[in-house]
Amino acid sequence: MKLFLRATVLLTAVLFLSAGMAVAGPEKDPLKPRVPAAERGKAKKMKTDLYKKAKKASPEIIAEGKKIYEGKGTCVNCHGKSGAGDGPAGAVLTPGPRNFTNCKFHKKRKDGEMFWVIKNGSPGTGMVSLNPSAINDEETWKVIAYERSLCKK
Ligand code: HEC
Repeated sequence: MKLFLRATVLLTAVLFLSAGMAVAGPEKDPLKPRVPAAERGKAKKMKTDLYKKAKKASPEIIAEGKKIYEGKGTCVNCHGKSGAGDGPAGAVLTPGPRNFTNCKFHKKRKDGEMFWVIKNGSPGTGMVSLNPSAINDEETWKVIAYERSLCKK
């Protein structure tokens, strides 16, 4: 009986996972805000001394952000090398990781809103809080500058 139960649990897990893979990567409304309304105003106003706007950050800051994105930040595992949201660990997630090549997303988000999600995560999704567990505040601002630079169209 116990064995049967274990086999059932395993089979369910496999089915669940493969169902997730079959629909790998669909994002949930990337244009809708993720910061809860009560905190959004404050989040939008958050600033750093590193740059005025992340999309205008210096090449040096962007290069440092890339190192964090592909290194200790582990962002690349889900968001992918090109930023399209197609990293190996992201393939089993629903909703799928944000596609940073989508310029429409970037237009809709203030730097501070991205900061808020990296700090607090996006509840109910694979985007968990990575600051301060993986990266500090300064590294967070740098990685945001890199993600902005991935906008393609
Ligand atoms: C385990 C997989 C995973 C990792 C690792 C990960 N992300 Fe995400 N990320 C996601 C998913 C899934 C979403 C989409 C969440 C949603 O739709 O609300 C997301 C969304 C985002 C968003 C969009 C938030 C918004 O306002 O819509 C930002 C910014 C972001 N991630 C930054 C990062 C950064 C920076 C790192 C590395 C420090 C990182 N992510 C690492 C899975 C991941």
